Parts: sequence; C-alpha cells; structure tokens
Amino acid sequence: MIRAAPLVDALYYLKEISEKLRRYDEAYNRDRPEVSDAFFDELKRKYALVIEINPSLQGQDWYANYVGAAPSEQFSEVPHGTPMLSLGNAFSREDVGEFVQRIRKFLGLTRATELAFVAEPKIDGLSANLRYEYGRLVQGATRGDGRKGEDVTANLRTILDIPQRLIGNDWPEEIEVRGEVYAPIGAFNSFNSNAEAAGSRSYANPRNFAAGSLRQKDPSITATRPLKFFAYAWGKTSHPFADTQMDALESFSRWGFKVNERSKRVIDVDGLLSAFNQLALIRSSLDYDIDGVVYKVDNLSWQDRLGYISRSPRWAIAHKFPAQQAYTVLEGIDIQVGRTGSHTPVARLHPVTVGGVVVRNATLHNADEIARLDVRLGDTVVMQRAGDVIPQILGVVDADRPDRGARYDFPHTCICPLKTALVKETNASGVESVVRRCTGELACPFQRIEHLKHFVSRRAFDIEGLGEKQLIAFHERGWINQPADIFQLARDAEKLDALRAEDGYGETSVRNLVAGIDARRTISLDRFIYGLGVRDIGEQTSIVLARAFETWPAFEAACVAAAEGIPSEDWVRLNEAHAVSPRVVATLAEASPPAADPWPEAPLDQKIALGFPGLAAPARRGLASLAEDWAGLVRLAEVARNEGPSDSLGQIAGVSGVGPVAARALALFFRETHNLAMVDALVAQLDRIEDAERPKTDTAVAGKTVVFTGALERFTRDEAKARAESLGAKVSGSVSKKTDYLVAGPGAGSKMADAQKHGVQVLTEDEWLALIGG
Ligand code: IVH
Repeated sequence: MIRAAPLVDALYYLKEISEKLRRYDEAYNRDRPEVSDAFFDELKRKYALVIEINPSLQGQDWYANYVGAAPSEQFSEVPHGTPMLSLGNAFSREDVGEFVQRIRKFLGLTRATELAFVAEPKIDGLSANLRYEYGRLVQGATRGDGRKGEDVTANLRTILDIPQRLIGNDWPEEIEVRGEVYAPIGAFNSFNSNAEAAGSRSYANPRNFAAGSLRQKDPSITATRPLKFFAYAWGKTSHPFADTQMDALESFSRWGFKVNERSKRVIDVDGLLSAFNQLALIRSSLDYDIDGVVYKVDNLSWQDRLGYISRSPRWAIAHKFPAQQAYTVLEGIDIQVGRTGSHTPVARLHPVTVGGVVVRNATLHNADEIARLDVRLGDTVVMQRAGDVIPQILGVVDADRPDRGARYDFPHTCICPLKTALVKETNASGVESVVRRCTGELACPFQRIEHLKHFVSRRAFDIEGLGEKQLIAFHERGWINQPADIFQLARDAEKLDALRAEDGYGETSVRNLVAGIDARRTISLDRFIYGLGVRDIGEQTSIVLARAFETWPAFEAACVAAAEGIPSEDWVRLNEAHAVSPRVVATLAEASPPAADPWPEAPLDQKIALGFPGLAAPARRGLASLAEDWAGLVRLAEVARNEGPSDSLGQIAGVSGVGPVAARALALFFRETHNLAMVDALVAQLDRIEDAERPKTDTAVAGKTVVFTGALERFTRDEAKARAESLGAKVSGSVSKKTDYLVAGPGAGSKMADAQKHGVQVLTEDEWLALIGG
C-alpha cells in the first residue's frame, strides 16, 4: 500500500523501484530473466502509482528514461505517403565536381546554363515525417525503414518548433512536411550533468539524446526534453506549392516552421564548395551538431526530371565533413566470421572519445591490411572516425618501442571447431582477393548463425520479438538451426512451454513471439529473396529480381535452371569488364584468332582492332586491360566461344541492375542440395510469398524493348533510359530481333543497319515522345 509520502521518501522509493526494473529488464534482454513477468508487471504498476501520487517526480523517473531509449515495440507502424529516401555521400571536392557534372549531363545542360543549388547544413539528428491535413497536424512518424516509420505523433506534438496548425492559407490540403528533430548541444550537456548527478541515465551525444527523448513511451517525458525541429523537405502533397527548393523553404517558414537560416542558394561547384567551407568554419560555434552540408538542385522541375537511383535522389547529395582522429592503444585483435565466411579482423581498442562518440572497436579490414600497418598488441595507434563509417586504424605511432610484441599471425583455418582451411579467392578482375574465407558454408557454425541473423534482420524477414539475443539463445539450445525452424518453433507447444517454465517467459512474451513469427508467414518476394542470404544478392538486387520475375515459382525455376549451366569465373570476368557488352562477347566468340600473334610488333590496342574488327575504342580498352597480350586475347575468345552460360543464367544476368556476378552467385547457391533443402523447408512453413508489384503494363511501351542511338537532341541518354524504364519498357544497348523500337537521333550509325536487318521499327525522337505521351 503506497501513501502520499514526503517527496524525498517518494523520490528515494521511486529510485529503488526504477533500479530494480532496470536490472530485471536488462536480465530479461540477456535472456536470463530474474523474476516472473507477473512480478515485473506488479513492480511497474507500483512505479506508475508513485508517479501518479507525486506528479512533480515526472521526468525524474530513471526507468522511463532508460526504456525509452531501447529499441521498442511500443509504437505502431505507419506507412509514409512517399518513401523517405537517404542521400548519397561526397567526401571530396572531386566527388562534388562529379555530382554536378552528372546532373549537367543528365539534364543536357550547356556550360552557359546556370545550375543553382541550395546548400543546407546537414543536421545531425533524426528525420521525421509530419502529415498535415487542411493545415492541421494529424500524424507524425520517424523515418523507420524509409517506407514505414513509427507513429510518434503525441511525442512530436510536444516540440514547440512543430506547428499544430499551419499559418496562412497557401498550403496544400494534404502535405507531408519533413525535417530533422535535434537537441541543442547546450541543453544536451546540462541534461547529462543533471542526470549524472542524480545517478540516472545520460546519453552519448545529442543525436542519441534526441532519439531517446522522441521515442519515450510517455509523451509528457518528451515534453520535458529540449527538442527542436528544422523543416527542409516534403513527401506527398495534394498539389505542388513551390517552383524551387528555396521557395519551398520560404513556404515552410511562412507556415510557421523553423527553417535553418544558414541554408543558401549558390551557383555551380564553386558556390557549393564555398558554402561548405563557410559552414565548416562556423560549425563549432553552432549550438547544434552538423555533420556535413546537403546540396539540392534548386529548380524543382529539374529535380523531377533527375528522379532517383534506388534509395537516393540524383538531385541531392550530402557532402560530409572530414573525419575526426584520436590516439589510443590496441588491446586485442578478434576475428569476425561473416555470413559468407569472410574472416574480418576487428581491433579492440582502449575506449576513446572521438567527435562525441566513444569508440571501442575499429575494423582492420583483412590480413594484408594488418601486415601493411604492422600493427601489434599494445601499440598506440591513430584511429579515425568519419560519419557512419566504421572506425579505422590509420597507423602505429610507437613502432620503435623496444619491448614490442610479435607480428600478428592471421589464422589459416576457420576459427570454428571444424577448422576448415581458409581460401583466398580471385576477384572479378582476376586479382587474388585479400579476403580470407571459410568455405564451410552452412556447416560452419559461425556462418550458420550469421545467416540466421541476416534472415531475421530488419530489411529481410524483420521478425518482431525475435532479436539477435533471443535468436542466439534459441540457436544455442539447438532449437533453431535454419530459417524454417523459426516458424516451426511458433507451433511447437512443448518448446513454448519450456520457455515459460525454464526461461521465465511470461504469457505476453510468448504470445508476442508467436505473433511476430506468424505475421511473417506472408512475405513479399523481394524480402524473401534478400532473406535467403545469397552472396552478392543485396537488398536492391533482390528488389530488381523480384520485379523482373514477379513470382517465387518463376524466380526459383530460373535459378534452378541457371544452376545447370554455370559459367566459369573467366566468363564472368569477361562479361563484367568495362565496356564489354554482350555484342562484344559475341564478336569475340565469332572470331577465330590464330594462336600465334600475327602482328608481334603492334601495340595491343591495334592487335585487337585488327583481329576483332568492329569493336569501339572503349571495348578495345576493356579487353586490353583484361587480356594483357595476344595469348590472353586468344584465351578470351575461347572463353566467349565455349563457356557461354545457359539461357536461364543469361536471363537472370540480363535483368537491368543484376549482372553476371550476381546471376552466378544465385546459380551456385541453387546448385547446392543443402541450400535447396533449406529453401524448401522454409517455403513449406510460409502461407504466401507475395508476387512483386508488376512493372507498368498500362503504357504504350510497357514490356517493349527499346534501343536509343545517335546524338539525341530532345533528351539525354540517361534521361531517355530512366523515363522508358519508368514506363515499363526495357532499354537495351544493342539491336537484335527482340528489339521493338530503335529511337534514332542525328548521326545514328551501325544500329540503323542492324534495325533494318532485323526488321525493327525506327522512330525519331519526336515520334518516340508522341508514343509515350510527351
Ligand atoms: S534532405 C531526399 N536535408 O540526412 C532527401 N536531409 O542522409 C532527403 N538530414 O535522413 C533528405 N539535414 O535525416 C535533407 N538539410 C537536410 C538534412 C537532411 C539532415 C538528414 C536526414 C536524412 C539524412 C540523409
């Protein structure tokens, strides 16, 4: 029974409960619960009661501070109206130059055309999406995975910079305003000093503090935190409201948002770099952290034309400030085994603070890097941290120490009990890889667990309630050895009972675990493909593959068929080489070069021109770098002739954005019976693998294959390709009998002849535009 006690007693009592809750929570998260769920819930109720009776203690509650920052399942998921994208990075003047050049080329701008950008400070906080309907804030969400975020409306409403109602009346009826939630550095520091004095939780940096504060379960706690907001972008709108990025920022400001006053309109590379230098100079005087400058094309119709490449816009980039460095001591080197068997050395460092973040680990990349640095235990090293990049070791400071230990000896066998020998592979350009890899695949316990972690990860199956810790614990118990076992577990009454009885899982936890697993018995095709964890098949490739094959049976059939005709690594190398298109490979295959060099005196490029007529200069260069001499060319011609892949593999490799390396990886994966068994067992546990969104079928060019040639005048090559693909057409580089249209600008050459040969319809640029509706 709790009575309204004197405040000091209540405070003391609250602290005691908080500490217990915190300890039990931590133990639970380590899968070693110390008390039953019922006991824990009872304690939480007491805790809430103390606060209810002593409202002035609100915000002093250590436990709420603590849980709020942990990843939580307390907010519901909400889809964004349009995806929240990320930005590509630039680290140097050259990168910025290339960014501007790419844009000029894509838009086909002449040198004389002025290209304006807005340079905005890149605020180091967390982005939020605010949905307004008829000027009222109706929903606010975190970025989440870019498509869906967490509904934190109530918390966002507590931030004074975020208007509940928009001012004026020139806003779209529906609009998603986007920007950055951040914490001022001064306020962050005073929060931390108070927290440390009170023995409660402090945060590593303003960004973590902002994130932890925004994700509080109780919005009245968020209200006590000094959060602020800058608006800088938007998502879905019911109608356009600006012509330029600068206009858009001005609109936000008129409607009542804070807009960063250091955002500036600048012209071309020089303008961008001078804005960058100015911000770098004043960075330390700002009361909020910035980690770079974001450059955005000012003209919004150009932004539209430029569009997106996978998850980031072509019209914007983040120019990051240079890395920060520090000295520390190397205390150990551990080896991490990756999902595909790679052995990566990780440096364990004496903890050191760099740019406000405590660093304990750094990557050492590979054995060669350790040898190059000649870094040994006990050395003082310079380490560097740049943005989100994993910290790196740059060099040893005290290599001339007299009592230095021995050189590091990189293991030659896998660090698992099987001790499989490690191999060095040759990479795509024929150079021996620096990565040492265990070939044990799923027999290797390390790879097995990495596979499982990948399977449940956020971008794959994303199983709620089954984090890495639980997964590892279940794996150690022998319950989960492959993905199908996860789904089996949810139906295994005996094991679930054991969880309750032996592991102290409460009824709610068990129910949540089962619900989280069951929710993923229906999965989208791209997530399914990605979840399989095939080497070289990343998230983007999975999306492209899903769209291309549409259904799981079609994709599986293609992979199984591809496994029948796996080409050699030489063939892949040839097809991956710069400027070597299928047409170039066909030319090689058709030629029958004599074994002895007919032109011993000629330079290699000329030998190629003479021996394989019809190849353009870039293709000749690509081949020259691969072949080195005439004998090499003869070998390549042989590879092209004899080792063509099966049609099925060609079909996968031919999907735009996939290529031969990924196609070969899939074929190798589907050739292994243990992988097929793993896939079959998994499929048997699922209810449905959802078909991918079909490419557009309701346009005049959907499903057609188009080739662009000649000096295009109405649009650039990149733009033409992007537009055609967005309308469901496939763009190819060479004309064949499968081509539907050849769009020819002035000066079109050999492709016109090819079109005639295959009876392909030739269109002018205007005819093409008329066909696709302008
Ligand atoms: S624009 C499509 N502008 O940087 C463009 N982002 O890596 C969307 N950020 O997630 C972002 N300041 O959290 C933009 N002035 C700014 C920004 C900014 C900070 C963050 C944002 C985003 C990340 C992109």
